[in-house]
Amino acid sequence: MLSSHKPPISIIPQGIKVASELCSAWYTGSSEVQSSARPPAGLFPSDQTAGGVVELVTPLRHLICFLYFSWTPGGRGHQRILRATASSRSRSRRAFTIGFVDTSTIVILDFGSQYTQLIARRIREFNVFSVVLPCTAPLDQIRALAPLGLILSGGPSSVYDADAPAADPALLTLGVPVLGICYGLQFIVHHLGGKVEPAPAREYGHAQVEVVAETPLFRGLPRTLDVWMSHGDEAKTLPEGFVLTAQTPNALAGIANESKRIWAVQFHPEVAHTRQGMELLRNFVLDICGASPDWTPEHFIQSTVDRVRAQVGDGHAICGLSGGVDSSVAAVLVARAIGDRLTCIFVNNGVLRKDEFAKVQKAMREQLGLRVVAVDAGERFLNALSGVTDPELKRKAIGNEFICVFDDEAKTIFDSADHVGEEIAWLVQGTLYPDVIESSSVKGPSQTIKSHHNVGGLPANMKLKLIEPLRDLFKDEVRRIGRDLGMPDEILERQPFPGPGLAVRILGEVTAERVALLQEADAIVVHEIKAAGLYRKVWQSFAVLLPVKSVGVMGDQRTYGYTCVVRAVHSEDGMTADWAPLPYEVLRSISSRIVSEVRGINRVVYDITSKPPGTIEWE
Ligand code: XMP
Repeated sequence: MLSSHKPPISIIPQGIKVASELCSAWYTGSSEVQSSARPPAGLFPSDQTAGGVVELVTPLRHLICFLYFSWTPGGRGHQRILRATASSRSRSRRAFTIGFVDTSTIVILDFGSQYTQLIARRIREFNVFSVVLPCTAPLDQIRALAPLGLILSGGPSSVYDADAPAADPALLTLGVPVLGICYGLQFIVHHLGGKVEPAPAREYGHAQVEVVAETPLFRGLPRTLDVWMSHGDEAKTLPEGFVLTAQTPNALAGIANESKRIWAVQFHPEVAHTRQGMELLRNFVLDICGASPDWTPEHFIQSTVDRVRAQVGDGHAICGLSGGVDSSVAAVLVARAIGDRLTCIFVNNGVLRKDEFAKVQKAMREQLGLRVVAVDAGERFLNALSGVTDPELKRKAIGNEFICVFDDEAKTIFDSADHVGEEIAWLVQGTLYPDVIESSSVKGPSQTIKSHHNVGGLPANMKLKLIEPLRDLFKDEVRRIGRDLGMPDEILERQPFPGPGLAVRILGEVTAERVALLQEADAIVVHEIKAAGLYRKVWQSFAVLLPVKSVGVMGDQRTYGYTCVVRAVHSEDGMTADWAPLPYEVLRSISSRIVSEVRGINRVVYDITSKPPGTIEWE
């Protein structure tokens, strides 16, 4: 039963649930309550700190809680935090933090597998939110996300290695369902008292698994599963309370301890080669964990708009537009939250593609209705890049210069007559999940590949605070959000273009002459790819300029010119990629047009490297 005092707020059915959770926290002495009740829409206004008093008559009746609550956004948009003070009849008082989970979250702990991101993607395909954390993440960080389930990924180590990933075994006793995959299974066995040893026969690739026990994880699946294996160790002795659930002719393939709510498989359900992998993951996420498939574009848009409003308050934000999908979607989302208090800045950094400075300004103003300030800072960037040849230094130099330009522009906008709102304190960026994963140590044991300029390249002394509404999303998810925001396909279907622009496609020093050459060559590649109807079929297609000159002959004249690389790749999310087998006729027309139309380039080569082992961009 729940009644309210001033200011009046509506009675919520979730009150009983919250009350009993609060009550048990009171008696166990805990000050944090992770409520499984869904926060009722509109009860806790998301754009302000709410104040009020709620009287909860708890199911135990002798504890009456007066909740003085204030709302603060937290937990990256999928959690709402209510700070509450409760008093008992005896007048003793305690402060509580009640976290309401408003999106089901599955936490994936990364033990270094190349497939970890794939697990996240699969779960999102069920419209359930998932987050990858390094396996070394502290328990408090995991708890703060209020996960409905934990997945322990595979990984290259052996549990008995001295340098095996240092995850806290207490994560197995958090009380939420756990699914161990490959190394995850071995981690569970090792830390709960079983035995893992090198296998006499390693299993890599296709295998057939026989299901030998009834378990909710395999519900609805056939008795024989076609799976993908990739392991050299195997569990020899199971920990107490565990049973064998599946096996191959050579080894154990699945185990479970249902009373502890732990399941594990030795194979990889996340890869496409495991035919029933999606069903297995669905059984875990939706049935065992009870996650609701509510992480939809509408939900994401609404919760992001709420969160940005709460974050920015009366402040003013600026957004660095690149003209690409990510920053445009980020800008449109933030504009929906704070309207005129967002000013977009589009900078000519001297390494844009041909005619891009003018074209992007027009599209952003006319098609998206954004307030755009255009800054022509080409010279400034090229000066900062002068003499720089190291790829990481280039990225940092560009990141630094961007921030200086933004800081300067922020001041100019603030001083201008038509400025709306308070001081400019926020910088909106279209950072995506793969940018974060690849450039920081989110993944624990996995390696840093390169500093994407909008993540690793920001200077430590930057004054503006960051808003990165797309930080948890993959590219295709961003496109989905953009579509729901009503953005035109012409903008949403643009191929990705890196923040540091052509600077990471000009190897060696970036000079104005080289930029001009690459702009011309790149425009030809894009034109021919579009003419062949391939622009939307490939993930990216572009030109790269090598600082390598070779001899050629044109019209009886000797030439000594630069080499241009044509790169076209297929990819789902930029994390992995295959070089695209472009038709010979397309390659032929690209090559002959570049050599005859771009004076200074006399040789064209085609890049046939996939990612891994290469990366998509050359630097
Ligand atoms: P790589 O080269 O790492 O690129 O295989 C993966 C995807 O990310 C894009 N990329 C960037 N995007 N800032 C960005 O916004 C960057 O610094 C950056 N570096 C690479 C790249 O074009 C590809 O789509």
